[in-house]
Amino acid sequence: MVILFLGAPGAGKGTQASVISKKLGIPHISTGDIFREAVSQGTELGKKAKEYMDRGELVPDEIVIGIVKERLSKDDCRNGFVLDGFPRTVAQAEALDSALSELGKNLDFVFNVEVSEDEIVRRLTGRRTCKQCNAVYHIEFNPSKVEAVCDVCGGELYQRDDDREETVRNRIKVYNEKTAPLIDYYQRKGILIDINGELPVEKVTEEILKYLSK
Ligand code: AP5
Ligand code: MG
Ligand code: ZN
Repeated sequence: MVILFLGAPGAGKGTQASVISKKLGIPHISTGDIFREAVSQGTELGKKAKEYMDRGELVPDEIVIGIVKERLSKDDCRNGFVLDGFPRTVAQAEALDSALSELGKNLDFVFNVEVSEDEIVRRLTGRRTCKQCNAVYHIEFNPSKVEAVCDVCGGELYQRDDDREETVRNRIKVYNEKTAPLIDYYQRKGILIDINGELPVEKVTEEILKYLSK
């Protein structure tokens, strides 16, 4: 099964992709998490990616596509995977199509998680992320049991550098210009499913599972 989550920054892609990947026992692949990991390790890739991420711009396609192709060729992707935050441009979507056909796989579901801009800002400014395992919380909507401590692994929770309000506004702008055209791209292929992302986390999951069990 190959599933893709499309949606604006803060729509809840990561939150849902994580639950669904656990339920299906297939890996959750988030290009944002891959880049943040590289940044925290101080690798060449991390240094390059950080320049773009801090401004809320997209990392160039050549870099992203190479990394995703390599990741999809790993053994744990054999039975499928959940993509979160990739593709983000038409060039990336085309590269994914050709990578999947090389792997002999099909894209089964594209979930387009919809939320309003006000909600995005509320969500991102209150988000906290685990330094160790990338689990995502919200100080109000989805708090950890102990403040600033991850429920899953006990790691420290932090606020992402790109969750400052000016950067969030730019990320939304970049999403509208470069990523929103993918809604049309996947609609034309007949595999796009719109999901109301403003419902509580569990309700959104229920909606998604309804489609997956069909
Ligand atoms: P990335 O990490 O992918 O960030 P993003 O797309 O901006 O999305 P977010 O992770 O901010 O939001 P999300 O939809 O995952 O929401 P979440 O579940 O966390 O990318 C970061 C940067 O990396 C990019 O700007 C770019 O520079 C670079 N990059 C990454 N991929 C790239 C690519 N393919 N090409 C080029 N560059 C790339 O939820 C948000 C908050 O809301 C949380 O606090 C959560 O607890 C809460 N929440 C979630 N769902 C609900 C709900 N239903 N109700 C209430 N609260 C909720
Ligand atoms: Mg995310
Ligand atoms: Zn954790």
